[in-house]
Amino acid sequence: MIAAMAVGVFLFTSCGAKNGSSKQLILYYSQTGATEQVAQQIQQLLGADIEAIELENPYSGTYAETIERVGKERQAGTLPKLKALKSDISKYDVIYLGYPIWYGTYAMPISSLVSEYDFAGKKIVVFCTFGSGGLEDGIRDLKKALPEAQIAENGFGIRNARIASAAKELNRFLIENNYMEGSVEAIPGYSEMRPVTEEEKQLFDAACSDYQFPLGTPVLAGKRGTSDGVDYIFQVESNGATSTIYVTVANGAKPEFTRVVR
Ligand SMILES: Cc1cc2nc3c(=O)[nH]c(=O)nc-3n(C[C@H](O)[C@H](O)[C@H](O)COP(=O)(O)O)c2cc1C
Repeated sequence: MIAAMAVGVFLFTSCGAKNGSSKQLILYYSQTGATEQVAQQIQQLLGADIEAIELENPYSGTYAETIERVGKERQAGTLPKLKALKSDISKYDVIYLGYPIWYGTYAMPISSLVSEYDFAGKKIVVFCTFGSGGLEDGIRDLKKALPEAQIAENGFGIRNARIASAAKELNRFLIENNYMEGSVEAIPGYSEMRPVTEEEKQLFDAACSDYQFPLGTPVLAGKRGTSDGVDYIFQVESNGATSTIYVTVANGAKPEFTRVVR
């Protein structure tokens, strides 16, 4: 519901019993702790049951070592073996499923999870963390893997480099999607896309240059103002492929990209 206040500020208000009497479980895999932080924040906000997915032989070691092991497993088509879940999935109606993005989609332990457990009829709300993006493709792949589950179109995703902003963004996500009661400022839509200006190119570079991989060249841009600052949407070309990159500039802060949609 959108409500106008006397001062002219528009609020997005979500009210009424959220998910009614349904039983909710936060189920997540996290290798290095980023997704776990988001899982714990959801738990604090919703008070739902929570369980970490654990492996018989955990991925450990450096990023390079994990990449190497995952690469070999993907090639061989093997999945990591999970420790049995303590939760009885059949008792839950709504599952908040969290994972890191690996190779552009949900991490391998989630492949194990969906092949071993029955999620038919469950409502699944995805949350994930990533270096640059992958929320949308993870949801798309999950829908294919679990055709009998009801997977919410909108999920929550945040870059691990921006985990400090997770609590605020999560609060908005849960209210906007009616999972929690509360009010947040309604954010306007982006302006129409038009050729990027020189100033916006510099802003894009400032937002993306710290990232370990090149993200491409911005061609088109749109923007919107919020009470926190300005958000930009860039259409970006990279090696013949087009992506969408979102950038936020909080008042007085350094520009940061929030996600890449490939
Ligand atoms: C094997 C592996 C593959 C990854 N692939 C991607 C990727 O395709 N895209 C991306 O944005 N981040 C990727 N990442 C980065 C993770 O998604 C990111 O570090 C995440 O926040 C880790 O979550 P965790 O701390 O809960 O394990 C990858 C990390 C690993 C270890």
